[in-house]
Amino acid sequence: MDVAPAIVVPPATRLRGAIRVPGDKSISHRYALLAAISEGSGPLDCGNSGSTMRMLAGVLAAHPFSSTLVGDRSLSRRPMRRIIAPLSRMGARFEAADGDRPPLTIHGNHLNAIEFVPEVPSAQVKSAVLLAGLQALGRTKVTEQASTRDHTERALSAFGAHLDYAGGGIMLDGGQRLQGIDARVPGDMSSAAFPATAAAALPGSEIRIDSVGLNPTRAGIVDVLRRFGASIEIRRVTDWQGEPVGSLTIRHQALRSVEITPAEVPAIIDELPVLGALATFGGELRVTGAGELRVKESDRIAALVTGLRRLGADAEELPDGFHIRGGTRLAGGAVDAQDDHRLAMAFAVAALGAREPVTIEGAEVVAVSYPTFFEDLDRLRA
Ligand code: S3P
Repeated sequence: MDVAPAIVVPPATRLRGAIRVPGDKSISHRYALLAAISEGSGPLDCGNSGSTMRMLAGVLAAHPFSSTLVGDRSLSRRPMRRIIAPLSRMGARFEAADGDRPPLTIHGNHLNAIEFVPEVPSAQVKSAVLLAGLQALGRTKVTEQASTRDHTERALSAFGAHLDYAGGGIMLDGGQRLQGIDARVPGDMSSAAFPATAAAALPGSEIRIDSVGLNPTRAGIVDVLRRFGASIEIRRVTDWQGEPVGSLTIRHQALRSVEITPAEVPAIIDELPVLGALATFGGELRVTGAGELRVKESDRIAALVTGLRRLGADAEELPDGFHIRGGTRLAGGAVDAQDDHRLAMAFAVAALGAREPVTIEGAEVVAVSYPTFFEDLDRLRA
């Protein structure tokens, strides 16, 4: 069994300063319960999360009341027309800045099923339509031009809904009742990607990550790291509510050059920044067909290339991707995480190979998806 690392408390002579304690959870429970059944209460804050805003919009679209969803500075710049268009066709009404950006006001309604072909490959958009379709009259069909992560489909099945797959489409009848389950959440492959890539990058490394989700629509990084040269073993694979889960052992081997094609992008969309960091250790990485990276928590193409170049990398932007050539060790210096958790962690991985220390400004943003990232990295340092 893993033993939690001890926290060492040194003795003290005196204490001074000002603090704040966390909010009172006795009060927040009551506020949350009452807000859920109130009319016209404060807007729902989705924080930094596009998934929250887009999928929640799918759920709220079917409820005949109005709600407003807001987000932080990064989320407030992100496109919402991609869900507004299909959910409006189903019968809901929306208000948004320029008809596209948050804050997003949803006037819910009784919905009708639609047949929908998303213009951009997006699991969030597919999920919004399926969640609305579950509450709509008739049979909703989503046909993706490029497959995206299928957690919504697997979760709906685990909760008792019936989905059909035919002609490349996903079909779902509205009005199905769900049944609550006891569920375990697998480790996030997109978080595992950071220590896994760091191990692939540094000679002599060998690390193990247990209980990681291995859903094929998320595990593209395993294949890409192997193409880079890393040895990856997958063991003890089991099934949690229809999601495959297992343990990964990653060992460094000499790095090679890799080309990512547009068809591969959806299965590694969140891992592309750290793969860029990997290429600074050796080999070469060319990515195309990843224009979606420009509308993530930051413009991840511009921000990644700017940050890595600042550290001394040979990196260039492409309109829909990037090209990074390894071989010269990074110098070090200071980079800005640009309010983006995955960029902060990608820069931290790149920093492991630099000659001088790297300062990552705004690195506390890692807490968005991986609060113990820096502690885990310190534990893994040999
Ligand atoms: C997510 C889907 C992806 C991904 C995001 C989480 C999800 O976005 O980038 O971090 O939870 O479905 P898109 O589906 O919009 O590409």
